[in-house]
Amino acid sequence: MKQNHHNYLPDQYKSTDDLKINHNYLKEQFSDSDEIFNEIKTLVRTGDFTLGKVVDEFEIEFSKVTKTKFCVGVGSGTDAIFLSLKALGIEDGDEIITSPYTFYATIGAIVTAGARPVFVDIGYDYNIDVKKIESAITSKTRAIIPVHWSGHLCNMEKINQIATKHNLLVVEDACHAINAERNKYRAGNFSNSACFSMHPLKNLNVWGDGGVIATNSENLYNKLLLYRNHGLINRDICEVFAYNSRLDSIQAIVGKNLLRRIDSITNSRINNANYFDKNLSKIPQITIPQRDKNFKQVFHLYIIRVEQRDELQKYLISNGIDAKIHYPLPMHLQPASKEYGYQEGDFPIAEEISKSIISLPVHEYISKNQQNEVIEKILKFYE
Ligand SMILES: Cc1ncc(COP(=O)(O)O)c(C=O)c1O
Repeated sequence: MKQNHHNYLPDQYKSTDDLKINHNYLKEQFSDSDEIFNEIKTLVRTGDFTLGKVVDEFEIEFSKVTKTKFCVGVGSGTDAIFLSLKALGIEDGDEIITSPYTFYATIGAIVTAGARPVFVDIGYDYNIDVKKIESAITSKTRAIIPVHWSGHLCNMEKINQIATKHNLLVVEDACHAINAERNKYRAGNFSNSACFSMHPLKNLNVWGDGGVIATNSENLYNKLLLYRNHGLINRDICEVFAYNSRLDSIQAIVGKNLLRRIDSITNSRINNANYFDKNLSKIPQITIPQRDKNFKQVFHLYIIRVEQRDELQKYLISNGIDAKIHYPLPMHLQPASKEYGYQEGDFPIAEEISKSIISLPVHEYISKNQQNEVIEKILKFYE
């Protein structure tokens, strides 16, 4: 029988793979991985493949970064959101308020948990507009999922105020936001549970899929330990029928290794973003998103709003610069959202932003020369 192959890289990555200034830095990042391979060899000799010592060690190190009491390693960022919702008791028909300007996974996790996504427009900081949340609350609303887009924390003080007033749960989609801070508090400390992704191009990445849930609630932590591992309290006793979404031991080794460098990774991204800010803000056709002194934005993505977006993207790509769109179609207009009855015009800022944004490579392997080249090419385009 002929097998259909679905293991493709999305076209957008394949077609830009050979650009000289690229979003993808994995070859450089892992060009010397002897330390990781040595640890993997040790693991293989022990056969400790499932939720063993290395996963414990990884979780302890991760919680030092998030400064939360507990962390649970799971299969992906998507699973982190899904398991959080399940462990918090989300049921069929519940409504969850979130942003229409996010990655598909936020909504996928809501829907697969049985709930209905209810969108609220964003502001020009790309995050949910807190002024619009209350009017979306109904008797079925159970939770809010703020998405800290590109590593910029949402207005969590206000979101938590609303959640307390209306007795709602809060789950942070912190998939872009490891190490990000708002008024000195780190992502992970503003909610019932916060969800991180370690997908290969995230600020903290592994060699495949991986995710982490951070929480300060011991009760939720204990539930999550059950939910990620079949609901087992030991080999023979299942307390609740649940899921299998464990952080893989090999990925825990990779994650642990990179966690040692997370501050330097974060700082490089911040410095690169500041350099772009300084130079690009002088160009009248470009709008730099608002920055706030009391925030530590960690720039999983460096996103600006530009005039003639599609032409600029083509021009940059034809000059060897990997300019991407994260993302061109908001969630409420995706075919998968059809059943929720949203229409074009419902969330004007998300729609406007999707048509005018461009992301430039900002990772730690971009050199000043490369940044200068990006800036020069953008200047030339608008000349
Ligand atoms: C905002 C957001 N939420 C959730 C996810 C899901 O993470 P993962 O790919 O690890 O499942 C992503 C990942 O790309 C994301 O960007």
